[in-house]
Amino acid sequence: MRINVIQEDITKVKTPALVISLFQGTESLDDAASAIDSGLDGTIKQLINDGEIKGKEGELTLIHTFNKVGAERILVLGLGKEENFSANVIRNGMGDACRFLRTKGVESMATTLHGSISQELDPQTMSQAMTEGAMLGLYRFQEYFDEDSNSGLITEMSILSNRSDLTEPLQEGVKIGEIISRGTMLSRDLSSEPANIMTPSRMAEVAQQISDTNGLEINILERSDMEKLGMGALLGVAKGSYQPPKLIVLKYNGDPNNPSKNLGIIGKGITFDSGGISIKGASGMERMKGDMSGGASVLGAMQAIAELRPKVNVTGIVPATENMPGGQAQRPGDIVRAMNGKTIEIINTDAEGRLVLADALVYAREKMQVDKMVDIATLTGAIKVALGSLCTGVMGNDQEFIDLFINSSTTTGEQFWQLPMHDKYADGLKSTFANLRNTGSNGEAGSITAAKFIEAFVGDTPWIHLDIAGTARSESNVGYLVKGYTGVPVRTLVNLAISRES
Ligand code: BES
Ligand code: ZN
Ligand code: ZN
Repeated sequence: MRINVIQEDITKVKTPALVISLFQGTESLDDAASAIDSGLDGTIKQLINDGEIKGKEGELTLIHTFNKVGAERILVLGLGKEENFSANVIRNGMGDACRFLRTKGVESMATTLHGSISQELDPQTMSQAMTEGAMLGLYRFQEYFDEDSNSGLITEMSILSNRSDLTEPLQEGVKIGEIISRGTMLSRDLSSEPANIMTPSRMAEVAQQISDTNGLEINILERSDMEKLGMGALLGVAKGSYQPPKLIVLKYNGDPNNPSKNLGIIGKGITFDSGGISIKGASGMERMKGDMSGGASVLGAMQAIAELRPKVNVTGIVPATENMPGGQAQRPGDIVRAMNGKTIEIINTDAEGRLVLADALVYAREKMQVDKMVDIATLTGAIKVALGSLCTGVMGNDQEFIDLFINSSTTTGEQFWQLPMHDKYADGLKSTFANLRNTGSNGEAGSITAAKFIEAFVGDTPWIHLDIAGTARSESNVGYLVKGYTGVPVRTLVNLAISRES
């Protein structure tokens, strides 16, 4: 989709569809809506008086203009209550509006700026949110459909502004929005690919392409490299699979004068989680192709960061392997030794994410010298019980870093909620035969127990764990999310990296 910023008389602009907007319960229309309303002989005001247009968030009303104004159709978008207005209202509204227009066969559209340009919502933030809403809301994964089903494509969106001084910041917002959306869509694509295609080797190829295109440092560790490093936890998981494991390492050096400032983002890359010998039930197992969504978000974020070129250093790591029950597979009761020397008794081979992360996090600290790190993982079914599909679970060992992270999320609309990390939660991880068990003893607080396990491998490095098992996938089209994988938390990871700019 091509997105441009243009300055033109709103009543004259020639377009198949023009999106305008209004707040809930509003008496007066903004300048853009007013001009259109005059052109339409007061139709919009009439619809408001009739109670058909209320301005509720996400409300869409289509009006055919019969050539009374330049646009063939006007789509009135409700913005909800003015006091709740934010970039996220715009992002969601544009997602809903664009998808709606696509079902009407519209291929090119225009939109006014929504709500008000204010301190909080500067023009750049506004157009970035509009761009993200349109691109992410229109996203479809169509790799495996016939060409026919590709019909209905919006190829152009014009953002109209009436002030020439806004053109530059609006264009900048579009540029940033495009980069961040493409990173998010890359993450969605990788998660949507089936596990017979998106193998650890294929993930490594994608990382290679990102590196080639953007000049990132890259290192792909093979099984033999992991053996030399003593990554027994990761290798134990990989044993049951025919597919060779890969540890993908990408580095963006945007601040070479400050090498000790190096943010690590580490994503679980289980390209299929059958559970291993502790095999999962058949129902819904196909969803476990998405168990590399954390890794996919790291690749998407690394691409976006490399294109945005902030003055920071970021290391992206993806421990990628399948979790399969092959003849060589590890068994419950097996004991493995992680890279930091700690021994782990495998109680349940389905608790494999924490095992691959254990070695990847030790590697991030010891070999890549990250000063702060975030891991992202579809780690526990329990997080869905706790937080549903709205919020990603946040856990960690450094409140200042957690606060910085959550602050970076506010403009993205991606939602997070912190869970407690009392040491008592680690009690069930004590093993009779090794330093640790890989699951708790009673199934309580499963998401926190998993985080406590990972904590045993992070040393004193400030660390955040994000459990995205509930948020990696959406069950419906809503706002800028479409049914399928969400690309969470690519946009917040990018913001976090930018927030560390010196
Ligand atoms: N990949 C799963 C977690 C998951 C569940 C992701 C649902 C997405 C949707 C993870 O590897 C797993 O199997 N976790 C177990 C842990 C248990 C054995 C302690 C779980 O949550 O049941
Ligand atoms: Zn599992
Ligand atoms: Zn898993």
